[in-house]
Amino acid sequence: MNLVLVFLLSGIIACSRAKSAYKPTPRLLLVSFDGFRADYLKTYNLPYLQDFIKEGVLVEHVTNAFITKTFPNHYSIVTGLYEEAHGIVANAMFDAATKKNFSQFNDVDPFWWDEAIPIWVTNQWQENRTSAAAMWPGTDVSIHNTTPHFFMKYNRSVSFSKRLENIIRWLNSSDPLVTFATLYWEEPDASGHQYGPEDTKNMSNVLQEVDKLVGHLVKSLKVSELWDKINVIITSDHGMAQCSQERLIKLDTCVEPWSYRLIDKSPVAAILPYNETYVYDKLKTCNPNMKVYRKEDIPDRYHYHHNERIQPIILVADEGWTIVQNETLPKLGDHGYDNAFPSMHPFLAAHGPAFRRGYKRKTMNTVDIYPMMCHILGLTPQPNNGTLTNAKCLLVDQWCINIPEAIGIVIGALMVLTTLTCLIIIMKNRTPSLRPFSRLQLQEDDDDPLIG
Ligand SMILES: *[C@@H]1O[C@H](CO)[C@@H](O)[C@H](O)[C@H]1NC(C)=O
Ligand SMILES: *[C@@H]1O[C@H](CO)[C@@H](O)[C@H](O)[C@H]1NC(C)=O
Ligand SMILES: *[C@@H]1O[C@H](CO)[C@@H](O)[C@H](O)[C@H]1NC(C)=O
Ligand SMILES: *[C@@H]1O[C@H](CO)[C@@H](O)[C@H](O)[C@H]1NC(C)=O
Ligand SMILES: *[C@@H]1O[C@H](CO)[C@@H](O)[C@H](O)[C@H]1NC(C)=O
Ligand SMILES: *[C@@H]1O[C@H](CO)[C@@H](O)[C@H](O)[C@H]1NC(C)=O
Ligand SMILES: *[C@@H]1O[C@H](CO)[C@@H](O)[C@H](O)[C@H]1NC(C)=O
Ligand SMILES: *[C@@H]1O[C@H](CO)[C@@H](O)[C@H](O)[C@H]1NC(C)=O
Ligand SMILES: [Zn+2]
Repeated sequence: MNLVLVFLLSGIIACSRAKSAYKPTPRLLLVSFDGFRADYLKTYNLPYLQDFIKEGVLVEHVTNAFITKTFPNHYSIVTGLYEEAHGIVANAMFDAATKKNFSQFNDVDPFWWDEAIPIWVTNQWQENRTSAAAMWPGTDVSIHNTTPHFFMKYNRSVSFSKRLENIIRWLNSSDPLVTFATLYWEEPDASGHQYGPEDTKNMSNVLQEVDKLVGHLVKSLKVSELWDKINVIITSDHGMAQCSQERLIKLDTCVEPWSYRLIDKSPVAAILPYNETYVYDKLKTCNPNMKVYRKEDIPDRYHYHHNERIQPIILVADEGWTIVQNETLPKLGDHGYDNAFPSMHPFLAAHGPAFRRGYKRKTMNTVDIYPMMCHILGLTPQPNNGTLTNAKCLLVDQWCINIPEAIGIVIGALMVLTTLTCLIIIMKNRTPSLRPFSRLQLQEDDDDPLIG
């Protein structure tokens, strides 16, 4: 008898040991299709992406960081920080103290990136794990003296297939085991700029192409037997708004071009004035479709103030308007505008062992992606501006209540309790009232001389 018990117990222990020992190292692939506006998912027929979503989760609108530009938002995704906090405050920057210039063609100086620690660096430091990257902004820079173990030098001419091939090869190797990888593609941003999002025919073509790339990605993961093991997030940095020759704001009609340096262009122009009062006074009434802020007056909700790289005067064009000095319209689509506009928002979809299946949610913030990724990988996050709370419902290992549901549950519970209480009170009132009555009846019976 004892022997049987011992056998049973050791069996159970062995089983649970085997189970916990089998728990595989969590892995994550983060993919960005630049300029993928949230509502493209509704406007266009994208079967591969929809299949991906069906088996995973979808966040329909992601509120990104201001300014809604490429470099700043890609860095917010991987740091969980607002732009003022991570230091990549624009696609074009000037640092007054060092006189250094940053642009997308001159972006490899770590000086610009070192104000934050992106997740691929943390992944390699904290757990001594390996990161890999195919052209995500910043991944070919030695940030805090660290690059991903595997990375590609940025070159926009390199095809998606080539990038994907590298990523799959790196992910498929076990020595070293890549636990975090990123993949970046320039479309549909490039076409969005060229045609404008209202050119639905041309945009449809490019989005079909992007959708096929998603199909290609999923197929490659399946062929290498990574699909069920690896977590995949597909997201983007920003959306796109339609621009027009009719919506031009010409700075030269308001202020002489020699009185300032234009550090960053439309639709959020960064102005370095040679005489701040002079330039500000001329610009502040320049055009009703452009907000003019001194740095200290930038609205708090933009979280775009506390950084030396933010210039003394910031011009913010209204949606669809373009700021130029004296040129004609440079592009038919643009982004960078107020991050409250739905047209500026990307989406987020995810699939894998860490994610629920078939779950949809309306919104989250770009800065919330980082704490979610750290949670999945088991990394301690760096200080950041995001919260895991907003991502809990996307994850299988998290207890998730959304507020309407919670209110429903509380109301339901209250109703059940009230009903029960009422029932008990009724019962209680009925029981004592029965006894006197029955006693009365008995007494009556006793007293009735006719029955006896
Ligand atoms: C940055 O650009 C400005 C204006 O073009 C120039 O005067 C300055 O020398 C540049 N800085 C460096 C370090 O090249
Ligand atoms: C990290 O891994 C490398 C090899 O990948 C090894 O040489 C090194 O000792 C490890 N460091 C720690 C702290 O585990
Ligand atoms: C960029 O990639 C293209 C296509 O692979 C190649 O022909 C070109 O030489 C590369 N440019 C640089 C600077 O490496
Ligand atoms: C795409 O845009 C070009 C102009 O750049 C135009 O000539 C062409 O007809 C458009 N194609 C479609 C399918 O709308
Ligand atoms: C992945 O690696 C395994 C060996 O570890 C190999 O058999 C397989 O062909 C590789 N797959 C790809 C797509 O490279
Ligand atoms: C700057 O401009 C203001 C207003 O135009 C003017 O009163 C002031 O003298 C200028 N300051 C300098 C240093 O030129
Ligand atoms: C725009 O301004 C530049 C100098 O600031 C000048 O050389 C050029 O001719 C102007 N172009 C137009 C179309 O006015
Ligand atoms: C964002 O996070 C950084 C790092 O923790 C912090 O310094 C900064 O104050 C935060 N910003 C806001 C608006 O909370
Ligand atoms: Zn763009």
